[in-house]
Amino acid sequence: MTGLRQNRISFSEKVIWITGASSGIGEALAIRLSALGARLILTSRNAEALVEVKARCAGTVAVLPADLSTGEFSVPQSGGTDFAGNDHSSQTGHPGPASGSPPTKNSFSGLAEQAIDIYGRVDILINNAGIGQRASAEETSEAVLRQILGLDFFAPALLTQALLPHFRANGGQVVVTGSMAGLMGVPRRTAYSAAKHALMGYFESLQVEHTVPGFHVTIISPGRVKTSLSLNALRGSGEPHGKMDAAQEKGIPVEVCAMKMISAIARKRKHVIIAREERLLWYLRKWAPPLYHRVARKFGS
Ligand SMILES: NC(=O)c1ccc[n+]([C@@H]2O[C@H](COP(=O)([O-])OP(=O)(O)OC[C@H]3O[C@@H](n4cnc5c(N)ncnc54)[C@H](OP(=O)(O)O)[C@@H]3O)[C@@H](O)[C@H]2O)c1
Repeated sequence: MTGLRQNRISFSEKVIWITGASSGIGEALAIRLSALGARLILTSRNAEALVEVKARCAGTVAVLPADLSTGEFSVPQSGGTDFAGNDHSSQTGHPGPASGSPPTKNSFSGLAEQAIDIYGRVDILINNAGIGQRASAEETSEAVLRQILGLDFFAPALLTQALLPHFRANGGQVVVTGSMAGLMGVPRRTAYSAAKHALMGYFESLQVEHTVPGFHVTIISPGRVKTSLSLNALRGSGEPHGKMDAAQEKGIPVEVCAMKMISAIARKRKHVIIAREERLLWYLRKWAPPLYHRVARKFGS
């Protein structure tokens, strides 16, 4: 997409909640969307990294740290400024727990309420947080299988479900960062691919089920994008892979991916693939499955 077309897109005053905003695709989305006038809520586990992303954004940004693999988060203390630099007394208008009481843990619905309270609404939820896998099915422990499904499938499904009443009343848009691995099998990605296939099934079903005026679901299936995904991906025992894979290194620049996602969001597209040669693999799977099975084996580095 040309810079000119991107310049015509405006998210002025839209409240956009981005998960996985501390790095990679989420960070690039935050920087670009804030430049296009959006008011942002940024979520991931690492509050300090979110504050750094906030500093690189142009407009109004709130930071809402949470571990989405559990749905647990800390409610900030009443009338104060939390460790992420958000002034909750003015932003939420809601008192927190009594001063001096310990922060309480809450669920996805509590987290969604907390996000709505920040600006009084959420217009667009971008379910982007995710974790990769670099292990065969045999090597992958049950704990890792559950961890990947928890973050990559259950978190977007439960966060979206928690916001559906809000979107039914006010309209809105849910965006989900799937993957080409959600459209076909990839070696050493059994759990990741399963989670991304599940996302595809859940959100495509939501598109046909939740036909409320003013409500939209956009599914994005990126191929390889140059981010830290392979560094953070889990081995079978749960250790981080810790390596930048050669294919990841040669992936689509993250800013290009973010710009294409923003174009798809603005046009309320139902499903967009952002990929290079992985797209050919997908065509092979559709039209020449035996060839796909031979070629796909080489894509698991
Ligand atoms: N890069 C690619 O080639 C590619 C291709 C297809 C799809 N995707 C998808 O794109 C999305 C973003 O990935 P990325 O490539 O930008 O990788 P990334 O740089 O590793 O970003 C992952 C993000 O998820 C957050 N996250 C991880 N665990 C979390 C948890 N338990 N709770 C809350 N947030 C958590 C991370 O922040 P914290 O560590 O601060 O929690 C980080 O902000 C993922 O869904 C991924 O599957 C990526």
